[in-house]
Amino acid sequence: MVRIGAFLVGLFFAGWLLISFLVGAVAYVSEPPAKTVEHEFHKHPKEVDFSFNGPLGKFDQAQLQRGFQVYKEVCSACHSLKFVAFRDLQGIGYNEAEVKAIAKQWAIKTPDVDPKTGEMSTREPVPADYFPKPFANNVAAAAANNNAIPPDLSLMTKARHDGSAYVYSLITGYQKQPAELLKHFPDAKTPEGLHYNPYFANLNLAMAPPLTADGQVTYGDGTKASVDQMAKDVAAFLTWTAEPKLENRRRAGLATIVFLLIATALAYMSYQNIWADKKKAA
Ligand code: HEC
Repeated sequence: MVRIGAFLVGLFFAGWLLISFLVGAVAYVSEPPAKTVEHEFHKHPKEVDFSFNGPLGKFDQAQLQRGFQVYKEVCSACHSLKFVAFRDLQGIGYNEAEVKAIAKQWAIKTPDVDPKTGEMSTREPVPADYFPKPFANNVAAAAANNNAIPPDLSLMTKARHDGSAYVYSLITGYQKQPAELLKHFPDAKTPEGLHYNPYFANLNLAMAPPLTADGQVTYGDGTKASVDQMAKDVAAFLTWTAEPKLENRRRAGLATIVFLLIATALAYMSYQNIWADKKKAA
């Protein structure tokens, strides 16, 4: 008796599940879910040829220095790099004196406390300091940026899919909202104060195009500072801030693979050697 009861209960649930599935499937086919504007117009990052792409890729130090210059002269007005200290710049080829000078001349000063009065003050950064934040706090940052807080960029290329190419694509990807978009999604008009950019996840962002004119920075090494070049350089620099030891990691990986290959060959040879007698006997 119990068995029949249990069977019927089971049947009831299985039947219910099947009916719900069928109802859902019919609804999905007859009335497919409306495509969102992001689904239709969001683009994946462009293909970019960076020197550090691929397993044997390496940073191009001159490019990192150019990217740093773009960060310093353009992006640092709004974005912090809170995990990078001035002295870390030795990693991209600046010597101690140069780092000292860069810290000393940094436009934003490091917050400090007056040792006599205890009042807040500021001082010139030293190489051991992290890059000072451009805004005193998030409220100030949002107030100055149309209610959006410019995120810290130290780890940005790790935080986004295909991060290096993403930063490049975002910076070079601003455009007019396509007429096609407005035709199909009239409600999705870019709100006042935001900027249309198909590489940004929800298509409209609060950052105005930061690089707008060729020659916005003047490179010391003679490279032509086109918008494209500056965007590429700053993307490379931000890849370095997110993973300064990228080359070491790759080198260690390569050494490990070579080691494992040799170890495998040795293991195979000793296996042959150990079993040689036994095999002959058989
Ligand atoms: C005038 C201020 C300002 C400047 C200058 C500026 N940004 Fe931004 N940036 C913002 C704001 C504000 C946001 C947040 C946008 C949002 O969430 O809508 C942002 C967001 C970003 C993001 C994150 C996008 C995401 O996926 O969340 C990246 C990357 C970025 N900026 C890179 C840069 C780079 C590189 C430069 C220099 C070439 C730069 N920004 C210069 C204000 C600025």
